[in-house]
Amino acid sequence: MNILYIGSGFVGACSAAVSAASGHNVLVYDVDKKKIDMLSSGDRDTIESCLFEKGLGDLLVRNQGRIDFTTDYSKVEGFLDVCDGVFMCLPTPEIGETGESNLTYYFDAAEKIGSVLARRNSGMQEKYVVIVNKSTVPIDMVDKTQEIMDRAGVKNYGVVSNPEFLVEGKAIEGSLSPDRVVVGAWHEKDFEIMRRMYQRFYDSPTVQYIEVNPKEAAAGKLLANYTLFNKLAITFDVIGRTCEAFDNISYEQIRKVLSSDPRIGSWGLYDSLYAGGSCFIKDARSLSHQLQTAGYGAVLVNETYVANKRQLETFIGRAEKEADFEWEGKTVALVGTAFKRDTNDIRNSPSIDICYYLQERLVKNIYIYDPAAMDNFKLVFPENEQYHYFNHEFDAVKDADVIIIATDWPQFRGLGDSIITELKHKPLIMDGRRMLQHRYIDLQKAGFDIIAIGSPFLKGKK
Ligand SMILES: NC(=O)c1ccc[n+]([C@@H]2O[C@H](COP(=O)([O-])OP(=O)(O)OC[C@H]3O[C@@H](n4cnc5c(N)ncnc54)[C@H](O)[C@@H]3O)[C@@H](O)[C@H]2O)c1
Repeated sequence: MNILYIGSGFVGACSAAVSAASGHNVLVYDVDKKKIDMLSSGDRDTIESCLFEKGLGDLLVRNQGRIDFTTDYSKVEGFLDVCDGVFMCLPTPEIGETGESNLTYYFDAAEKIGSVLARRNSGMQEKYVVIVNKSTVPIDMVDKTQEIMDRAGVKNYGVVSNPEFLVEGKAIEGSLSPDRVVVGAWHEKDFEIMRRMYQRFYDSPTVQYIEVNPKEAAAGKLLANYTLFNKLAITFDVIGRTCEAFDNISYEQIRKVLSSDPRIGSWGLYDSLYAGGSCFIKDARSLSHQLQTAGYGAVLVNETYVANKRQLETFIGRAEKEADFEWEGKTVALVGTAFKRDTNDIRNSPSIDICYYLQERLVKNIYIYDPAAMDNFKLVFPENEQYHYFNHEFDAVKDADVIIIATDWPQFRGLGDSIITELKHKPLIMDGRRMLQHRYIDLQKAGFDIIAIGSPFLKGKK
């Protein structure tokens, strides 16, 4: 089939690559020329330095003959004569702190594609096409998309909601063998087209292929993300806090007790300084906004959002409160800037708020290391006399007064040994991901004070 993707971010690029690998002819359009040049470079490293997703480079290079990237709309126009589906993969960020989704990227792209769809097949519009919402959108988005297409004079089309459930860092692996594919449509004809597009998943015994209506699909996505976000908030604000409040309760032991109950499960039982990323926060805010606009309360949804914020504030505030640490004039090592491991995405990364906090506290130097996300971080905090970037985690920490571990890159677990053997000046350790938990006792014995998420203050032996 012939499929057009509009937007080549994490969602657009990864699902386009998987579509090409499923045998479809794919065209990807984006307004960002640099991104399009990198994704179409044919070079695995260039592709993955643009979107750090394991396997993306390989998949794009192997399917080069079936996928094309462009910023040239005349190519899009030509493609529409034969196009079976237009996948809308546009950003839907929150407007300020209102909860409302900023749909301008979506509307701009939809109006533009609508005007050319109305001219396809020399204006005869013979080719039936589905417009597929892959972005995470408000529940009534199907109506809005339909209005835009009708206003533009588009005929012979259907609107489908096909929310994306990929997990950044595992997007390719997850999209090649998803747990589920959710397709929301009003008409059988649209379901049929989607089944053909997703034949490999429709036929798969391991994939739950779920057909619902477009509003159920959009609501299902928002509610799934909220449910996961809520579980993280419980881990942070209830389970982790309990382990911080009482001596001799190890977070890891409590986790074993809890996850042994299949009703609780193990997902989300990792304590952390914050749940960042581009989705959980904005989708919870959007759900809350939609519930309130519909005249209902959203107390628990709002409290989940607040609990996540409180987690980061509580963690960073512990340095002054528990260790009498004064930030002014100090050198801080910030280990990890990606919002989580295996990605170069820094959207809503806790490291961003930590840097603003450190600036306010007048720290002298911020020494930074991340294996994948430093280039993106430098766009927000350029290298200058306060911000310094390093090529190895140990170089960033070795002269610091305090070490903050903010991302769960597995290699950071190895820092424990070198800290114990090399750092004679005993910096304060703030472990926001429990990456050094296997060495807390040794670190304490060696004289290091530790503030760890999910533990009470661990005083070093002096
Ligand atoms: N990132 C995730 O993990 C994830 C997972 C599931 C769902 N989603 C949802 O998918 C949507 C896209 O997310 P993303 O992470 O891929 O975003 P992104 O910011 O990585 O990518 C969006 C792309 O759209 C492009 N764009 C903006 N305006 C455009 C226009 N008018 N025409 C063409 N291209 C345009 C941007 O240049 C960018 O490359 C969002 O609604 C998000 O909530 C994201």
